[in-house]
Amino acid sequence: MNKFYVTTPIYYVNSYPHLGHVYTTIIADTVARYKRQRGYEVFFLTGTDEHGINIERAAEKAGLPVKQHVDRIVASFQTAFAPFQFTNQHWVRTTDEYHKEGVRKLWRTAQENGFIYKGKYEGWYCGNCNEFYQEAEAQKGADEVLLCPTHERPLELLSEESYFFKLSAFQDKLIEHYEQNPQFIRPETRRNEVLSFVRGGLNDLSVSRVSVKWGIPVPDDPEHTMYVWFDALSNYITAIGYGNEQFGGETHFKKFWPADLQLVGKDILRFHTVYWPAFLMAAGVELPQTVYSHGMWLSGGRKMSKTLGNVIDLAVLHKYFTPEVVRYFVLREMVFGQDGDFTYEALLDRVNADLASGVGNLAARTLTMVRNFCDGVIPAPGNASAELSASAQDVRDAVTQAVSAFDREFDEYNFSRALEAVSNARFRVDKFISDAKPWDLAKDPAQRGALELVLHTAAESLRFFAALLAPVLPNATQTIWQQLGEAGSVAEVRPDSLLWGDGQQKQIGEITPLFPRLDKKKVMDDIKQDEAASQAARAQETQTEVPAAAAPAAAAPAEPVPGIAYIGIDDFLKVELRVGEIKTAERVPKADKLLRFTIDLGEAEPRQILAGIAQYYDPEKLPGRKVIVVANLAPRKLRGFESQGMILAASIGEEGRPILAGFLEDVPNGAKLK
Ligand code: MSP
Repeated sequence: MNKFYVTTPIYYVNSYPHLGHVYTTIIADTVARYKRQRGYEVFFLTGTDEHGINIERAAEKAGLPVKQHVDRIVASFQTAFAPFQFTNQHWVRTTDEYHKEGVRKLWRTAQENGFIYKGKYEGWYCGNCNEFYQEAEAQKGADEVLLCPTHERPLELLSEESYFFKLSAFQDKLIEHYEQNPQFIRPETRRNEVLSFVRGGLNDLSVSRVSVKWGIPVPDDPEHTMYVWFDALSNYITAIGYGNEQFGGETHFKKFWPADLQLVGKDILRFHTVYWPAFLMAAGVELPQTVYSHGMWLSGGRKMSKTLGNVIDLAVLHKYFTPEVVRYFVLREMVFGQDGDFTYEALLDRVNADLASGVGNLAARTLTMVRNFCDGVIPAPGNASAELSASAQDVRDAVTQAVSAFDREFDEYNFSRALEAVSNARFRVDKFISDAKPWDLAKDPAQRGALELVLHTAAESLRFFAALLAPVLPNATQTIWQQLGEAGSVAEVRPDSLLWGDGQQKQIGEITPLFPRLDKKKVMDDIKQDEAASQAARAQETQTEVPAAAAPAAAAPAEPVPGIAYIGIDDFLKVELRVGEIKTAERVPKADKLLRFTIDLGEAEPRQILAGIAQYYDPEKLPGRKVIVVANLAPRKLRGFESQGMILAASIGEEGRPILAGFLEDVPNGAKLK
C-alpha cells in the first residue's frame, strides 16, 4: 500500500488559536482524507510548539508554572480544533519526552558529523530581560546609546558561549537540491524567492542559548538550551519514531519518512526550506518531498494576527457556520498559495450559492421527486426522446469529466479549481433538471420514461458528487450517501471506481436538509454584535489575567512596582506621535537592513525617514500604507541620508521581526496620537 505523510506547522502556544491555524490544518486534513479515499496509508501530524523565552514569559505573566500554562493553551487549541473532526494520527508536543529524545539524536548526529560547533555569540544584552537584542531592535538614547526596547535602560555589548550550526556549509548543496527537485518548494514563486536568498550567502546559525531556560538542554552541556527552531522543526521526524520508540520507532519512521507534503504558511518558509533541509542533511536524513507554502488569510487587508487584533474569532464563526461549510469556504475561496481576504459576507455568499442553493438543493429536489414520483426508489433510465437522451448523456459526460478534473487539480493542490470543477458539473445537472421539468413530466403517464431518465441522471450525478466532495464535506456527503440508499462509508469510495448506473433501484433514506440558507443581512448584523461583545470580553479577560505586577500603569499604584521605569504623563506628552502615509519606499544602496521612505504627515512637504525593516518588508508594497511616526525626534544621519523621524513597529520573536503599527480604520494624515 502506498503511504502518504502530511504535516502542518506546530503552533506556538503563546497565543490562542484562530482561523489562520485552523486553515492549515483544514488543508492537511482534506489532503489526508483525499489520499485515504484513494487507498493510501496516511499519517497526518499536527501539534504544538511549546518552548522558548516568550512562552516562559507568558507563563510568568499568568502566574503559572510553565508546563501548566502550556497545557492550558494546548487544551484550548484542541478544543478549538475539535468541531472540525480532524483526522490527525497524532498531536505532537515539543514538551513530550519522546520528542526530546529524538531531537537529541538529531543534534548529536549533526554534531558528530562536524556541523555543530561551539563559539561565541555577540549581542546587546539587557540584564533585566536576561536577553540579547539585535542592534536594529534596540532603541537609541542620547549620544546614540543603545537602549533595551522594554526597559529603556542601556544595553551592554556582551558575548556569550553558543553552539553554532554550520549553515554556510550547505549553501551549494541546498541550491543543488532546489534545482534538481523543482517540487521541493512550491509554489514556484516561493522556490525562486528561496533560491535567491540562499544564493545571497548563508551565515552559520546560533543554535543554543544559555539565557533561555524553557527548552531542551543541549546533550552533554545542559547549561545550553537548544534554539527553538532546531527543537520545533525536528517534530516532523521525532513524532514518527526518529530516535525514539514512538509508534514502534525506527521501522515506523522508515515507513513514513520522507514526508510527502509539509504545509506551512509563507511566514515560516525560510525555516522550512533552508534551515530544516540543512539540519536533515547534516544528520544524513532524507529531505521531505514537498514543502508547500500557502498564503495568509488577511482581515481588513492585513495578515490576521493576534498582535493586530484582527483575528476571526472561532467562537463567533462556529455560532453561525458549521465546521463543514468553513472547510468548504477556505478551500474554495482562497487560491492555494496566494493571500486571501476573509470576510463574513464572502463566506455567506459562498455557503448560500454553492452549498444551500447548490449541492444541498440538488439533493433535496432530486430525492423529494424520487420519493414523490418513484415510490422512493432511484429509477433505471427510461426511454425518452432522442433530444432528452442526448442531454442526459451530456450531463453524464460532464460528471465523469469532473471526476478526472477533480483529481488532476487536487493532486496539484489546486483545491479551489478542483471544487470549481464539481460546481461546473453541478450547474449542468441543475440546468438539465430545470429544462426537463420533471414535475411536469410526472403529470403525464406517457412521459414516464423521460421522468425516470431525468431522475436517474440527477441521482447518479449526486452520487458522484458525494464521493468527490467527501474529503471536504465529510458529514454532509455521508448524509447524501445514505439518503441515496447507499451502504457503508463514502469516505472509502474512490470516485473513479464508481460505475454509472450502480445507484439505481436503491431505496432512498430519510430526506433531511443539508445546508440551510442563511439570511445574509440578519446574520451579518448578529455577527457584528457578537464580535463587539467578544472583543470586549477578551479585553476584560486580558486585564484580569495579567497579574498586578505586570499591569499597565493606567491606575498608577501608590507604591511603584520594582522593575518598571515609570514616566509621568508630561514625559509621554513630549513625544509627538502622528499618523503618516507612506508615499515612496526604496532600498538604501549597500545597507541591506534599511529602507528610505517619504512620508506625508499632513505637512507642506513629506518627510524623509529611514527604518531598519528592509529584511521584512517589500518596499514596493508599502506606498499607501498608514503608519505611526515619532514626529519630533531629532533628525539624524543614517548612511548619508537624514532621517526626520521614526516609524513605530512591534518587535516580534527572538529575531525581533518588525510589524509596522497602523490602524484598522481610515485616519487622516498628520492626526495626532495621544
Ligand atoms: N511555531 C511556529 C512553527 C513551527 S513549525 C516547526 C509558528 N507557529 S504559529 O503558531 O505562529 O503558526 C504559524 C502558522 O499558522 C503559519 O505558518 C500558518 O500555517 C498558520 N497561520 C497563522 N496565521 C495565519 C493566517 N492569517 N493565514 C493563514 N495561515 C495562518 O510559526
